[in-house]
Amino acid sequence: MESEKCLEALLTRRSIRRFKPDDVPLDLVLKAVDVARFAPSARNGQPWELVVVRDKERREKLSKIHPWARYAAEAPVAIVVLSDTRRAPDSYMIDGSLVAMYLWLALHCLGLGAVWLHTVPVADTVRRIIGAPDHLFPVALFAVGYPDERPAARPRREVRDIVHLESFGSKLE
Ligand SMILES: Cc1cc2nc3c(=O)[nH]c(=O)nc-3n(C[C@H](O)[C@H](O)[C@H](O)COP(=O)(O)O)c2cc1C
Repeated sequence: MESEKCLEALLTRRSIRRFKPDDVPLDLVLKAVDVARFAPSARNGQPWELVVVRDKERREKLSKIHPWARYAAEAPVAIVVLSDTRRAPDSYMIDGSLVAMYLWLALHCLGLGAVWLHTVPVADTVRRIIGAPDHLFPVALFAVGYPDERPAARPRREVRDIVHLESFGSKLE
């Protein structure tokens, strides 16, 4: 694999919160999902389900789950990532987050922009809006569209601040 290209994809992904009005073909979204399904999961359980919402009324409902979710109405597509608490009782949140992250990166590689919108504190509301049963936990909601901004990277903690050598507390020089 060309490592620079691979790293570039990881390093250039951003949360996109301004979208062009252009519609996103469903095929393109499905292409991203086709890649996202290669995310790892505990015991390869793949406990995820993805609800693609293009309907404006339903996106508007999703955009009101909290004040920072308004992008769901401003982008042409919203995607809810659900994870099955019955199939993966001890890993549904992790597995669901992994497929969500793969999806985000795949969308980015396909020229689409997305922002992850928090769902955890409002899981019941999200379930109700999309008609999902109680055992499916909404791990993430994405607003997806063609980017209309190129935000700079947000600040990140330094390597030396986050790495501990051999045991917790021994920091790099
Ligand atoms: C679990 C999670 C929840 C998030 N919730 C929101 C949200 O509700 N609204 C929003 O605008 N951004 C949300 N974000 C996006 C973060 O603010 C963003 O990823 C972070 O500031 C880093 O910026 P970057 O994605 O451009 O690297 C969320 C991200 C994660 C991983």
